[in-house]
Amino acid sequence: MGKDVIIACDFSNAEQTLAFLDRFQGKKPFVKIGMELFYGAGPDIVRQIKARGHKIFLDLKLHDIPNTVKKAMTVLRDLDVDICNLHAAGTVRMMEAALEGLTRPDGTRPLLIAVTQLTSTDQEALEKDLLIEKPIDEVVMHYALNALKAGLDGVVCSPLEAGKVHAACGADFLTVTPGVRFADGDIGDQKRVMTPAEAKKVGSDYIVVGRPITAAEDPVAAYQRCCDEFID
Ligand code: C5P
Repeated sequence: MGKDVIIACDFSNAEQTLAFLDRFQGKKPFVKIGMELFYGAGPDIVRQIKARGHKIFLDLKLHDIPNTVKKAMTVLRDLDVDICNLHAAGTVRMMEAALEGLTRPDGTRPLLIAVTQLTSTDQEALEKDLLIEKPIDEVVMHYALNALKAGLDGVVCSPLEAGKVHAACGADFLTVTPGVRFADGDIGDQKRVMTPAEAKKVGSDYIVVGRPITAAEDPVAAYQRCCDEFID
């Protein structure tokens, strides 16, 4: 898959989500479905959006014992999504089991990417809550390398880390990057942001964009602007 813009559909129900997607008439943006919408609307929302012809990144961030994650991934595989994810903190064995569960009998499977450390975890929380004494950058890169070792396709990371991840894990290892804002737009609660054009320059493979599109007066124009800046 080439570079693409993924819209974070952070809505709480199916009606709002489908009404939002209706505005795109004819266009079929890549859509991210997160926990709120999935738990609220159920797996049927995935089937409905898929049936409309959209690609789907199902952002459920699985983290459990390997056997449980493997079985859960088999359920997600049958929803026919394009990208799934999990926490690299679940260990290499858990990531390997997830890949097994995700792989269809014919050998095909959705892409599988890992969350390294959440951007809400800072150095202090890492040391005090998790008893991890290493610098957070080192931990993020170690987790990315673990994901590579387990056979995963990439990681979710800040666009500011995309270059470093590609240098360590290879150009083909996908970097899926939230934290994207227009140069003249609101930053909101994101701290470290890049524009779509900058994210392209540093080598992000997919940008995940929520409010700059979903809260825009003209979401279709905002989406098009992201595509124009990010995809050639
Ligand atoms: O509205 P906004 O563009 O900030 O949305 C970004 C999306 O990416 C949200 O769905 C958010 O949960 C997700 N995300 C993030 N930072 C991470 C991981 C996921 O912003 N580190």
